[in-house]
Amino acid sequence: MNEILIAGRRLRLRRANETDLNYIMALQFAPENLKFIVPFDEEFQREVITSDGSEKMSVIIEELDGTRAGYFLLRELDSPCAEFTHVIIDRKGLGYGRESLKLLLAWTFETKKFHRVWIDCKEYNSIALNLYESLGFVREGLLREILLTNGVYENLIVFGMLDREYFARQTEV
Ligand SMILES: CC(C)(COP(=O)(O)OP(=O)(O)OC[C@H]1O[C@@H](n2cnc3c(N)ncnc32)[C@H](O)[C@@H]1OP(=O)(O)O)[C@@H](O)C(=O)NCCC(=O)NCCS
Repeated sequence: MNEILIAGRRLRLRRANETDLNYIMALQFAPENLKFIVPFDEEFQREVITSDGSEKMSVIIEELDGTRAGYFLLRELDSPCAEFTHVIIDRKGLGYGRESLKLLLAWTFETKKFHRVWIDCKEYNSIALNLYESLGFVREGLLREILLTNGVYENLIVFGMLDREYFARQTEV
Protein backbone atom coordinates (compact mmCIF):
# COMPACT_ATOMS: atom_id res chain seq x y z
CA MET A 1 0.00 0.00 0.00
CA ASN A 2 1.24 3.53 -0.78
CA GLU A 3 2.05 5.50 2.32
CA ILE A 4 1.18 9.13 1.57
CA LEU A 5 3.06 11.60 3.78
CA ILE A 6 1.36 14.77 2.61
CA ALA A 7 -0.55 16.02 -0.42
CA GLY A 8 -0.77 19.46 -2.02
CA ARG A 9 -2.41 21.18 -4.95
CA ARG A 10 -0.45 19.40 -7.69
CA LEU A 11 1.84 16.99 -5.91
CA ARG A 12 1.96 14.50 -3.10
CA LEU A 13 4.80 12.87 -1.24
CA ARG A 14 4.80 9.17 -0.50
CA ARG A 15 7.29 6.72 0.95
CA ALA A 16 9.26 4.97 -1.75
CA ASN A 17 8.96 1.21 -2.12
CA GLU A 18 10.93 -1.42 -4.01
CA THR A 19 9.11 -0.66 -7.28
CA ASP A 20 10.76 2.80 -7.15
CA LEU A 21 14.34 1.55 -6.88
CA ASN A 22 15.16 1.68 -10.60
CA TYR A 23 13.57 5.13 -10.86
CA ILE A 24 15.69 6.45 -7.98
CA MET A 25 18.89 4.95 -9.41
CA ALA A 26 18.15 6.45 -12.85
CA LEU A 27 17.42 9.87 -11.33
CA GLN A 28 20.67 9.90 -9.35
CA PHE A 29 22.80 8.98 -12.35
CA ALA A 30 21.12 11.21 -14.96
CA PRO A 31 23.92 13.61 -15.96
CA GLU A 32 21.83 16.72 -15.22
CA ASN A 33 21.43 15.54 -11.61
CA LEU A 34 24.67 13.67 -10.98
CA LYS A 35 26.85 16.77 -11.19
CA PHE A 36 24.96 18.33 -8.27
CA ILE A 37 24.63 15.35 -5.90
CA VAL A 38 26.64 12.53 -4.38
CA PRO A 39 24.91 9.32 -5.51
CA PHE A 40 24.43 6.22 -3.39
CA ASP A 41 24.74 2.70 -4.72
CA GLU A 42 21.82 0.38 -5.28
CA GLU A 43 22.54 -1.65 -2.17
CA PHE A 44 22.26 1.43 0.02
CA GLN A 45 19.14 2.68 -1.74
CA ARG A 46 17.49 -0.72 -1.29
CA GLU A 47 18.44 -0.68 2.38
CA VAL A 48 16.77 2.74 2.76
CA ILE A 49 13.61 1.63 0.98
CA THR A 50 13.26 -1.58 2.96
CA SER A 51 14.12 0.00 6.30
CA ASP A 52 11.39 0.88 8.77
CA GLY A 53 11.85 4.57 7.94
CA SER A 54 12.68 5.56 11.47
CA GLU A 55 16.21 6.80 10.67
CA LYS A 56 16.26 7.24 6.90
CA MET A 57 13.57 7.36 4.26
CA SER A 58 13.26 7.74 0.50
CA VAL A 59 10.28 9.78 -0.57
CA ILE A 60 8.74 9.86 -4.03
CA ILE A 61 7.34 13.16 -5.27
CA GLU A 62 4.42 12.43 -7.56
CA GLU A 63 1.65 14.19 -9.39
CA LEU A 64 -1.82 13.47 -8.07
CA ASP A 65 -2.40 10.90 -10.84
CA GLY A 66 0.62 8.93 -9.62
CA THR A 67 3.16 10.14 -12.22
CA ARG A 68 6.55 10.30 -10.51
CA ALA A 69 8.18 13.74 -10.54
CA GLY A 70 11.24 13.33 -8.31
CA TYR A 71 12.57 12.05 -5.03
CA PHE A 72 13.95 13.06 -1.66
CA LEU A 73 16.27 11.12 0.61
CA LEU A 74 15.83 12.01 4.27
CA ARG A 75 18.19 11.02 7.04
CA GLU A 76 18.71 11.51 10.77
CA LEU A 77 14.98 11.09 11.28
CA ASP A 78 15.61 9.53 14.68
CA SER A 79 17.02 12.84 15.96
CA PRO A 80 15.42 16.29 16.41
CA CYS A 81 17.41 17.50 13.38
CA ALA A 82 16.50 15.93 10.05
CA GLU A 83 18.74 16.08 7.00
CA PHE A 84 17.40 16.44 3.48
CA THR A 85 20.18 14.43 1.85
CA HIS A 86 18.92 14.30 -1.74
CA VAL A 87 16.57 16.67 -3.52
CA ILE A 88 16.05 15.67 -7.14
CA ILE A 89 13.26 16.85 -9.40
CA ASP A 90 12.68 14.81 -12.51
CA ARG A 91 10.25 17.17 -14.23
CA LYS A 92 12.22 20.38 -13.86
CA GLY A 93 11.18 23.99 -14.31
CA LEU A 94 7.49 23.47 -13.48
CA GLY A 95 7.66 24.80 -9.95
CA TYR A 96 7.77 21.26 -8.59
CA GLY A 97 11.00 21.82 -6.66
CA ARG A 98 9.47 24.71 -4.75
CA GLU A 99 6.11 23.02 -4.24
CA SER A 100 7.53 19.67 -3.12
CA LEU A 101 9.99 21.29 -0.70
CA LYS A 102 7.14 23.32 0.82
CA LEU A 103 5.23 20.08 1.32
CA LEU A 104 8.30 18.39 2.78
CA LEU A 105 8.86 21.30 5.18
CA ALA A 106 5.22 21.18 6.27
CA TRP A 107 5.50 17.44 6.92
CA THR A 108 8.81 17.87 8.73
CA PHE A 109 7.79 20.69 11.05
CA GLU A 110 4.00 20.45 11.32
CA THR A 111 3.44 16.71 11.23
CA LYS A 112 6.70 15.32 12.57
CA LYS A 113 7.64 18.25 14.85
CA PHE A 114 11.36 18.29 14.05
CA HIS A 115 13.36 21.07 15.65
CA ARG A 116 15.61 21.70 12.68
CA VAL A 117 16.29 20.59 9.14
CA TRP A 118 19.49 20.99 7.24
CA ILE A 119 20.69 20.48 3.74
CA ASP A 120 23.95 20.97 1.90
CA CYS A 121 24.47 22.16 -1.62
CA LYS A 122 27.38 22.51 -4.03
CA GLU A 123 28.55 26.09 -4.18
CA TYR A 124 27.91 26.45 -7.92
CA ASN A 125 24.38 25.01 -7.87
CA SER A 126 22.80 28.41 -8.21
CA ILE A 127 19.26 27.17 -8.92
CA ALA A 128 19.18 25.10 -5.72
CA LEU A 129 20.94 27.80 -3.66
CA ASN A 130 18.39 30.42 -4.68
CA LEU A 131 15.52 28.03 -4.12
CA TYR A 132 16.61 27.08 -0.59
CA GLU A 133 17.19 30.72 0.42
CA SER A 134 13.86 31.81 -1.01
CA LEU A 135 12.14 29.09 1.03
CA GLY A 136 13.66 30.53 4.19
CA PHE A 137 16.70 28.34 4.70
CA VAL A 138 19.54 30.19 6.41
CA ARG A 139 23.02 29.92 4.93
CA GLU A 140 24.96 28.60 7.93
CA GLY A 141 28.38 27.84 6.64
CA LEU A 142 30.79 26.67 4.02
CA LEU A 143 32.49 23.28 4.10
CA ARG A 144 35.65 23.97 2.16
CA GLU A 145 36.94 21.41 -0.35
CA ILE A 146 35.05 18.60 1.34
CA LEU A 147 34.08 16.67 -1.77
CA LEU A 148 36.49 15.18 -4.27
CA THR A 149 34.69 14.97 -7.61
CA ASN A 150 36.58 13.82 -10.70
CA GLY A 151 39.85 14.97 -9.17
CA VAL A 152 38.54 18.39 -8.10
CA TYR A 153 37.84 19.41 -4.52
CA GLU A 154 34.46 21.09 -4.17
CA ASN A 155 32.88 23.31 -1.50
CA LEU A 156 29.52 22.64 0.08
CA ILE A 157 27.23 25.30 1.51
CA VAL A 158 25.24 24.26 4.56
CA PHE A 159 21.68 25.55 4.98
CA GLY A 160 19.47 25.12 8.01
CA MET A 161 15.97 26.00 9.14
CA LEU A 162 14.64 25.93 12.69
CA ASP A 163 11.06 25.14 13.63
CA ARG A 164 10.44 28.69 14.92
CA GLU A 165 11.76 30.15 11.66
CA TYR A 166 9.44 27.90 9.68
CA PHE A 167 6.37 28.83 11.75
CA ALA A 168 7.23 32.55 11.71
CA ARG A 169 7.16 32.44 7.90
CA GLN A 170 3.76 30.73 7.89
CA THR A 171 2.20 33.62 9.80
CA GLU A 172 3.84 36.19 7.50
CA VAL A 173 2.02 34.98 4.37
C1 LIG B 1 17.34 22.23 -8.13
C2 LIG B 1 16.00 21.56 -8.44
C3 LIG B 1 15.60 20.68 -7.26
C4 LIG B 1 14.94 22.65 -8.63
O1 LIG B 1 13.70 22.04 -8.95
P1 LIG B 1 12.78 22.61 -10.15
O2 LIG B 1 11.45 21.93 -10.04
O3 LIG B 1 13.50 22.51 -11.41
O4 LIG B 1 12.64 24.14 -9.73
P2 LIG B 1 11.31 25.03 -9.74
O5 LIG B 1 10.62 24.87 -11.05
O6 LIG B 1 10.53 24.77 -8.51
O7 LIG B 1 11.94 26.47 -9.68
C5 LIG B 1 12.53 26.95 -8.50
C6 LIG B 1 13.17 28.28 -8.81
O8 LIG B 1 14.35 28.05 -9.60
C7 LIG B 1 14.26 28.78 -10.82
N1 LIG B 1 14.75 27.93 -11.88
C8 LIG B 1 14.35 26.68 -12.17
N2 LIG B 1 15.03 26.20 -13.22
C9 LIG B 1 15.86 27.21 -13.61
C10 LIG B 1 16.82 27.32 -14.64
N3 LIG B 1 17.07 26.30 -15.49
N4 LIG B 1 17.52 28.47 -14.73
C11 LIG B 1 17.30 29.48 -13.86
N5 LIG B 1 16.39 29.44 -12.86
C12 LIG B 1 15.68 28.31 -12.74
C13 LIG B 1 12.79 29.06 -11.02
O9 LIG B 1 12.58 30.22 -11.79
C14 LIG B 1 12.29 29.19 -9.61
O10 LIG B 1 12.52 30.49 -9.14
P3 LIG B 1 11.29 31.43 -8.71
O11 LIG B 1 10.37 30.55 -7.89
O12 LIG B 1 11.95 32.50 -7.94
O13 LIG B 1 10.65 31.83 -9.98
C15 LIG B 1 16.06 20.71 -9.74
O14 LIG B 1 16.41 21.53 -10.80
C16 LIG B 1 17.01 19.52 -9.68
O15 LIG B 1 16.59 18.41 -9.33
N6 LIG B 1 18.29 19.73 -10.07
C17 LIG B 1 19.29 18.65 -10.15
C18 LIG B 1 19.61 18.06 -8.79
C19 LIG B 1 19.95 19.14 -7.79
O16 LIG B 1 20.63 20.09 -8.09
N7 LIG B 1 19.46 18.94 -6.56
C20 LIG B 1 19.77 19.82 -5.45
C21 LIG B 1 21.01 19.36 -4.79
S1 LIG B 1 21.44 20.39 -3.39
